[in-house]
Amino acid sequence: MSTTLIRNGRIVTAVDDYRADILLEDGRIAAIGRQLDAGPEVRVIDAAGLMVFPGGVDCHTHLENTFGDSTTCDDFASGTKSAAFGGTTTIIDFAFQSQNTSPLDAIERAQSKAAVGASIDYGFHVIVTHVDDAVLNDMRHAIRHEGVSSFKMFMAYPGTVMVDDAAIFRSMRMVGEHGGMIALHAENGTVIDLLIREALAQGHTSPKYHALTRPAILEGEATHRGIKLAELAQAPVYFVHLSAKEALAHVIEARDAGIPVFAETCPHYLFFDESVYDSDDFSLAKYVMSPPLRSRESQDALWTALKTDDLQLVSTDHCPFCMKEGHMGRVRQKMHGRDDFSKIPNGAPGIETRMTVIYDGGVRKGRISLNRFVELTSTAPAKLFGLFPRKGTIAVGSDADLVLFDPQAQQVLSVHTHHSNCDYSLFEGHHVHGKVRKVFSRGDLIVDEEQWLGTPGRGQFVRRGEAGGF
Ligand code: URP
Ligand code: ZN
Ligand code: ZN
Ligand code: ZN
Repeated sequence: MSTTLIRNGRIVTAVDDYRADILLEDGRIAAIGRQLDAGPEVRVIDAAGLMVFPGGVDCHTHLENTFGDSTTCDDFASGTKSAAFGGTTTIIDFAFQSQNTSPLDAIERAQSKAAVGASIDYGFHVIVTHVDDAVLNDMRHAIRHEGVSSFKMFMAYPGTVMVDDAAIFRSMRMVGEHGGMIALHAENGTVIDLLIREALAQGHTSPKYHALTRPAILEGEATHRGIKLAELAQAPVYFVHLSAKEALAHVIEARDAGIPVFAETCPHYLFFDESVYDSDDFSLAKYVMSPPLRSRESQDALWTALKTDDLQLVSTDHCPFCMKEGHMGRVRQKMHGRDDFSKIPNGAPGIETRMTVIYDGGVRKGRISLNRFVELTSTAPAKLFGLFPRKGTIAVGSDADLVLFDPQAQQVLSVHTHHSNCDYSLFEGHHVHGKVRKVFSRGDLIVDEEQWLGTPGRGQFVRRGEAGGF
């Protein structure tokens, strides 16, 4: 293993901001100090003028995930490379429990895919799609022995992945006792399903009806219900991809009452709003994600909540499907819903742009502090999901996952410069300040300017500790 000395960087964590050298040895941070000694065999990197952040932690990605007929167009190789170029060095992806697999089988399968392709470290949440005694036993085992302490359950998509309230409550009660946490996709699935059927019956087939059939009030209702179930179960609960002020209000109320409720939002909800759904054009399929884009008022409320800690973090929900059928050999992508919006696979890309857009739109535009930026993109997800202090900070003994970030650089974001397999970027043409220059993962330099030095398979599965205790 190589030894590297990063000199003169401005080290920024969730709580610190100072200039020092960092010595990386055997994959860990070995020392931090002024004018550290470099032996002759040490690689020295000058970080003068650059900020040094802990590697980003993206706790919501979908690589090689299959939903119904469609599989996301990024595999672990392309997705983790794209993540790394954006300054993310750890992801938490999903292990899918289908009707005839157990959670432990699901973890094993996900691990075998990631082991081949991933170039950065990874963990998994299990998507739990049915609950019985055996499943609950598996979940308990996963928390205690497999380093998988969080589980996603869907309150939407009836007939495929949705589970009922009793299944959610039972799972919450068990994981709450054992140091785990349930993450909820909170939308009222059965009412949405009715609205979809009614829209289709009226001949409303274009992508904008995806948004019109998933109103914010139904995210608010499900969020409230999820909080009440968690309160009764005495368990922490986490809301994924929170988008609407109607949902946020319930999270704020619960947190003010001291209930352990946590939530993320995603860049697309912070930078785009429902005004994009203004025509029947199929190109709007690129904005078909769930929940859909919301009002400007919701957007403002989300930014405020990031500042006040009513929202704890920003993850991507990177769930890419190509617009062009057959791009990179991928089929049943967005075009699958050409004549029926309900068949458009849900999700959007974003794994590479998260850190830069939150830096530019958050820090530079004065909405959040620099320390809060690090907290939202790295420290909070690491703490909440049991990765801290190995991940999420810059400290002696932590993994040497570091991002050298140039706040002076400017760039125009584009699908033509990103590294995902996806054929579009929501941020196409966005001019931002700030650029990732170098990325280290466990001491290895994997991104050096435009150069890719990572290799598929070098990423490691990270066993996580308890979740929800933050
Ligand atoms: O539209 C989305 N968010 N697709 C990904 C799956 C999910 O619900 O997170
Ligand atoms: Zn979801
Ligand atoms: Zn998702
Ligand atoms: Zn500018």
